[in-house]
Amino acid sequence: MSLLFAIVLSCVFVTSQIAAEGSEVVSYAGFQVWKIKPNSEEDRQFVLNIKDTYELELWNERKTARDPLDVLVPPQSQTKLKLRLAEHKIFYDVVISDLQTAIDKQKINVNSNTSNSKAAYNMDWITYHRLIDIYNFMIYLNTTYPKLVQLTKIGTSYENRPLYVLRISNSSLPGTRPAIWIDGGFHAREWISPAVATYIIQQLVEVPANANLLSNVDWYIMPVVNPDGYEYSHTTDRMWRKTRSVSSTSSCRGVDPNRNFGYKWGGLGASPSTCDETYRGPKAFSEPETLAMSNFITGKSSQIKLYLTLHSYGQYALVPYGYDVVYPPDYNEMLALANDAASKFVKYKYTVGNSAALLYAASGGSDDWAKSIGIKYSYTFELPDRGTYGFMLPSSEILPVCKDFFPALNVFATKVATCCGAVTTTTAKPQVTTTTTKPQPTTTTSKGTTTKCSCACG
Ligand SMILES: *[C@@H]1O[C@H](CO)[C@@H](O)[C@H](O)[C@H]1NC(C)=O
Ligand SMILES: *[C@@H]1O[C@H](CO)[C@@H](O)[C@H](O)[C@H]1NC(C)=O
Ligand SMILES: *[C@@H]1O[C@H](CO)[C@@H](O)[C@H](O)[C@H]1NC(C)=O
Ligand SMILES: [Zn+2]
Repeated sequence: MSLLFAIVLSCVFVTSQIAAEGSEVVSYAGFQVWKIKPNSEEDRQFVLNIKDTYELELWNERKTARDPLDVLVPPQSQTKLKLRLAEHKIFYDVVISDLQTAIDKQKINVNSNTSNSKAAYNMDWITYHRLIDIYNFMIYLNTTYPKLVQLTKIGTSYENRPLYVLRISNSSLPGTRPAIWIDGGFHAREWISPAVATYIIQQLVEVPANANLLSNVDWYIMPVVNPDGYEYSHTTDRMWRKTRSVSSTSSCRGVDPNRNFGYKWGGLGASPSTCDETYRGPKAFSEPETLAMSNFITGKSSQIKLYLTLHSYGQYALVPYGYDVVYPPDYNEMLALANDAASKFVKYKYTVGNSAALLYAASGGSDDWAKSIGIKYSYTFELPDRGTYGFMLPSSEILPVCKDFFPALNVFATKVATCCGAVTTTTAKPQVTTTTTKPQPTTTTSKGTTTKCSCACG
């Protein structure tokens, strides 16, 4: 009875139109994004407590009391919320006054012809692109640069889209050198993430000036981990976050892929409720996307030395663990490298630290899992901005964000190459040599022979 009432109510306020494919396009006309500024922990809790009453959706939650909360406010709640906040003397700014207008603006030129008419592919970094452009771009690179690029289909998504990983290696023996993994597009609405991941691919493959980044390191890049969600965020609901799998117990679809990994799965900050944005799924790796990705990485876990996953937004470089405020034994080394990388950023400054301490505990994340299988350096980067546009980052910002980010890769590649040395494909575990004096870095020979890890990277 009350559920029916709620459905009727929401239909009154969320107007929809029929999309070409016949699915309902979700309209955010009249929805606003408010940056609420609590004065104390009490204020912060107050806002979190009235969240459900006013059907608020938290876009970006920070942990410390006085950090602002970015909140999506539906039209029917705006007057009431304004009064409630005024009663408590809590200030706020309206950062997006009409979300639908922002969505329409951001979508201008999606999938249009690239500005560069000479380009061999319909991909650029001045507009956001549909999945077909991203996939055709990767297929083009695979065909055009067979010595450098290898595109592998590692599985299929719930809705049967291919899951692609692109390897970039100029080694005559790929797989024998330490590697860096980069992924994007976990969360569908975080469009800047696949944009940055594809930019990295383009720069590594097509720009000769970046050849030094390939001299000692292989790269595995998966720009769209959640292709079903990504397409759905283009066609139907711009604010979609999760996968698109159907639940056997609920009409709510999708699992949060970044709560679905098999390390500390089901702990803090990962909802058991199917309708929640942070739904962890019925079990660890329930989603074909997270399962395929984890199987692929596990198969290369002796080679992959650094795991980097790109999300948005907030400008954070986050160091595991995220499942709780818990620090790995080598946390300081991980933190130091993150700080080095973040020091390269000029236009957008990132806050560096432990994810559970800086933001909130979230279990079942891919970064924790990567660390748990022995990948020494594991990071989540929350790309720009800090909430001026949030997920609605204008397309004019794509290239500046990409260009600002790219130099950090040199820090990672240098570290992995000098610290981790060459990798053997044998099953034997490399011996960790304990020395009383400072271990000397051993030089890697071009033949890919085993070298000792001067900083115990293995
Ligand atoms: C791009 O432009 C060409 C020539 O103007 C046109 O034939 C083609 O259909 C366009 N492609 C898209 C995806 O708009
Ligand atoms: C990439 O190219 C190789 C040939 O160089 C081909 O065998 C392979 O199927 C291609 N990968 C994909 C996913 O199309
Ligand atoms: C890979 O790139 C490095 C750096 O440019 C270069 O020194 C090396 O010869 C290249 N190797 C191959 C097999 O092309
Ligand atoms: Zn995310």
